Amino acid sequence: MANPRLRSITWWRKWSRKDWAIAAVGFTLIVFLCTLISNSMIDQPFDHDHAIAADLVDLTLLHNAKDKGALCLDGSSPGYHFQKGFGSGSNNWLLHIEGGGWCNTIASCSLRKLTPLGSSKYMERRVSFSGILSPYSSQNPDFFSWNKVKIRYCDGASFAGNPKSELKNGTKLFFRGQLIWEALMDELLSLGLSSAKQALLSGCSAGGLATLIHCDDFRQLLPKDATIKCLADAGFFLNEKDVHGKQTMRSFYDDVFHLQGVEGSLHKDCVSRMEPSKCLFPQEIVKNIKTPVFLVHPAYDFWQIQHILIPDASDHNWRNCRLNIHDCNPNQIEILQGFRNSLLKALNEFQKNAEGGIFIDSCFVHCQTWMDHTWHSPQSPRINNKTIAESVGDWFFNRNIVKQIDCPYPCNPTCYNMNFT
Ligand SMILES: *[C@@H]1O[C@H](CO)[C@@H](O)[C@H](O)[C@H]1NC(C)=O
Ligand SMILES: *[C@@H]1O[C@H](CO)[C@@H](O)[C@H](O)[C@H]1NC(C)=O
Repeated sequence: MANPRLRSITWWRKWSRKDWAIAAVGFTLIVFLCTLISNSMIDQPFDHDHAIAADLVDLTLLHNAKDKGALCLDGSSPGYHFQKGFGSGSNNWLLHIEGGGWCNTIASCSLRKLTPLGSSKYMERRVSFSGILSPYSSQNPDFFSWNKVKIRYCDGASFAGNPKSELKNGTKLFFRGQLIWEALMDELLSLGLSSAKQALLSGCSAGGLATLIHCDDFRQLLPKDATIKCLADAGFFLNEKDVHGKQTMRSFYDDVFHLQGVEGSLHKDCVSRMEPSKCLFPQEIVKNIKTPVFLVHPAYDFWQIQHILIPDASDHNWRNCRLNIHDCNPNQIEILQGFRNSLLKALNEFQKNAEGGIFIDSCFVHCQTWMDHTWHSPQSPRINNKTIAESVGDWFFNRNIVKQIDCPYPCNPTCYNMNFT
């Protein structure tokens, strides 16, 4: 064994690099969003003034956040964007929780405090509603007229932190994810959610994980005779070793779990049965969800490839492949196919769930529901000629059983594959 002091120093260096990488994903997604928005603005010859007025939705800071102790990492009030439903959608609600990784150390949470993912001070005051949040039937055929809420993410632990874990020595970090969730639900219930006839709780990435964690809580809050379902987009994080055989993701989740005191937000049956931090993995969470769930997920999720499978950005052999799937050599493709097989294996039990739905496309992408381009457009990824929007709609309204699993890469020409080089 190496000198323990040395080991702890290299450990620190390694994680701090990873923390940066995780923070960087948030920015990558924002850049990606901007690119797609500007593309769709150029592609579509519609009235821009009208589009801008309808698509941009103001940030609302949670009322009484301070009284309820529902605070972002830095102590500011959390926020959401609300667009009122109309016509046939007036009594229906679609909630979408934004993603943005997690913070697993005091250092990474302290950095996050200085970004929109840790403080509402830095959040954009207006955001565009696109994809599953779009108010246009051509882009969002089933949910366009619903009440829609984009929930901002500023706690760093998928709305599952607990104040008992806060440091008592002057380090100002608020771990209030669970309290934010509860205060937010109170406020949305008072805005009309309490009389919803149909509702879909959704989220992407860390927001997809939050969706799974809170799916049954959400169901409990709403009328018994209402149709309530949950949709996790790119939220199925795998408990897999990296290419060097290390438990990178497992220990990352273990750190998040202990730092923020996540246990109280997870299912009791799970935490009593196994190492509690394992219960943060979706494959464990879905076993206990009673509400119908749909999983949208790319088989070659670039976030998971870059953080779970090949977390070391300086790994020379993998440098190109982890940034662009077209640059992977045959051996690397074989390893990626192994990762896809692990995903399908982890989903084995879920696939038998009669009320569940899945759409696993073979694309090198991450979130696909909140972007017009991947959700529902002529260029969207399709499986059996159905877009994600059509598949989710078929499942939500019981038009069809939806268990769509794409053939392995590179068979699907409709994929939108990211290129980070
Ligand atoms: C508080 O405690 C944590 C963990 O024990 C430590 O990392 C941090 O530096 C401490 N902060 C201060 C201000 O002493
Ligand atoms: C695929 O679906 C579109 C409508 O979304 C339809 O126009 C087209 O004919 C379909 N293609 C095939 C091969 O079924």
